[in-house]
Amino acid sequence: MKRVTAKAPANIAFIKYWGKKNESLRIPANSSISMNLSEVFTQTSVEFSANLKSDKVKIDNLPVKGSEKVRVVRHLDMIRKLSGLNLYADVTSNNNFPKGTGLASSASGFAALTLAAAKAAGLDLQEKKLSILARIGSGSACRSIPSGFVEWKEGNSSENSYAHSLYPPEYWDICDVIAVVGEVGKKVSSTEGHTLVDSSPFYKSRILEMPKKIRQLKSSFEKKDFTDFGRIIEAEAINMHSVMMTSSPALYYWTPKTMEVMLAVVEWRDKELECYFTIDAGPNVHIMCLAKYAQKVKNQLKKISGIKRIIINNPSIGARLI
Ligand code: DP6
Repeated sequence: MKRVTAKAPANIAFIKYWGKKNESLRIPANSSISMNLSEVFTQTSVEFSANLKSDKVKIDNLPVKGSEKVRVVRHLDMIRKLSGLNLYADVTSNNNFPKGTGLASSASGFAALTLAAAKAAGLDLQEKKLSILARIGSGSACRSIPSGFVEWKEGNSSENSYAHSLYPPEYWDICDVIAVVGEVGKKVSSTEGHTLVDSSPFYKSRILEMPKKIRQLKSSFEKKDFTDFGRIIEAEAINMHSVMMTSSPALYYWTPKTMEVMLAVVEWRDKELECYFTIDAGPNVHIMCLAKYAQKVKNQLKKISGIKRIIINNPSIGARLI
């Protein structure tokens, strides 16, 4: 059968997905909002073949084994079931960024795998269905299917929990300048982390405040009010990390370098370089600014020792076939 290749962006969450209503279907406890990233992505090609005796999976040129492989095979099984195809697949996936930096995320990976495998199996699926399938692989992957600025509506069943585009990439000229500070793999995966939320005394209030926070963020988008936007996303990142750090066991994703960059961002802001940070389940800091300030932010970051890499991202289109 035909080999099909898809490319999907990673995304940065402004309103975070942390905690699930349904573990196995990955139905989140709250809706989330993100932006797709132009410079961090995964490219995956899939071919179903009668010559294979099992699924073959390679990520970044290495054969994948163990639980990582099981997760991919399960995803292929779901697509085989949907298409009625009974063949094994050859899957090759490459991240444009080394693994272990906390950037080559499961979001871009499962979005690209979903699109490539569905097409290779002969399915022609709408964006909504692709987003639902990607979500079952990894929750945040459903947001890497649609383009630009994206909302994942939590829903209450598998069929109504998916992401849609709020605005196309060109709607707002903002950048995510990523300061890569860590290169070690995380000790606790986000999948594991999600299960700990109820042990944090702050989680209930986080969820209660969510609808209001989402309304406020959407309104900042409507008005293109960058100051409002920045204040909301920075407070939201701290809110999620407070839940993480007060879970049992506690999850500390920051390193001293993470904190150093966070404090620098606050200082630059006081000196009229308007930018705000957000952080996912890892040590890297995503600094949001208007596009016209991206180079300035990068120049400031270069003065901090120990930053491994700086990546300026524009808003990007979602997963596509190539
Ligand atoms: C902190 O999507 O990686 O990045 O659904 O278990 O695969 P699984 O979790 P995952 O969780 C992402 C958590 C986050 C916040 C976010 O991206 O919204």
